[in-house]
Amino acid sequence: MRVRLWLAGLLVALTAGCTPMDDLLVSIFGRSMREQPSFNPYENPQPAPEGSVPFASGNFPAGQGTVNLGEPAGEAPPPPVTPFMVLQSAPEVVDLENPVSPDDASLVRGEELYIRACVPCHGDAGGGGGSVTAYGVPSFSIVEGEALDRTDGYIYSIIRVGRGGMPAYGHQLTHYDRWHVVNYVRQLQGLLPGQEDLGADSESSEN
Ligand code: HEC
Repeated sequence: MRVRLWLAGLLVALTAGCTPMDDLLVSIFGRSMREQPSFNPYENPQPAPEGSVPFASGNFPAGQGTVNLGEPAGEAPPPPVTPFMVLQSAPEVVDLENPVSPDDASLVRGEELYIRACVPCHGDAGGGGGSVTAYGVPSFSIVEGEALDRTDGYIYSIIRVGRGGMPAYGHQLTHYDRWHVVNYVRQLQGLLPGQEDLGADSESSEN
């Protein structure tokens, strides 16, 4: 008799699903497992510390004019490209036109982002030898050789999706911010209009 009762109970438990089971347990123990101090999906468990400055993130985009300086509202980034297309110098990569003129505001923004995202590998002046190259990351100069012949679209795209040993930074740097970095890289390379006679060689390629 007892065994049959247990079997019946087991059958109910196995077939009835969670909610009736939980209701039953509530009636016995007086509390439910459905009420617990866990976080809801996508709930931010910890608010940002006081005084922290929003930079650029999917969840908390900073205000217009803070990231993507000068980007017209509603402007969509160009169609997606792949690292392979960068490697192949596909037309979608090299023909992409830079919509941002390298004015002071763009260069200031570009420098800020370059220091944050690129200096660890390419160094302050773009000559390579950034801090992480001491730990096995290849040192790669972007102020000499082929890098000088790349189009703005190429540099935009390599920032966006990476290529070979260069990781993608598209998730850290959004659309117009990538163009500001491109402009700053052009300045490091000595290739901005009015800079031509300086030449990249006069920049220190150390550090
Ligand atoms: C983790 C290290 C690392 C970081 C950070 C990094 N790069 Fe690179 N970058 C590389 C390496 C390595 C290469 C050589 C890629 C290859 O293997 O083809 C490269 C290549 C490049 C090239 C291609 C140059 C050429 O001659 O074709 C450009 C341009 C470039 N990086 C710009 C940037 C910019 C701008 C940033 C910041 C947004 C950045 N990189 C951040 C490691 C890095």
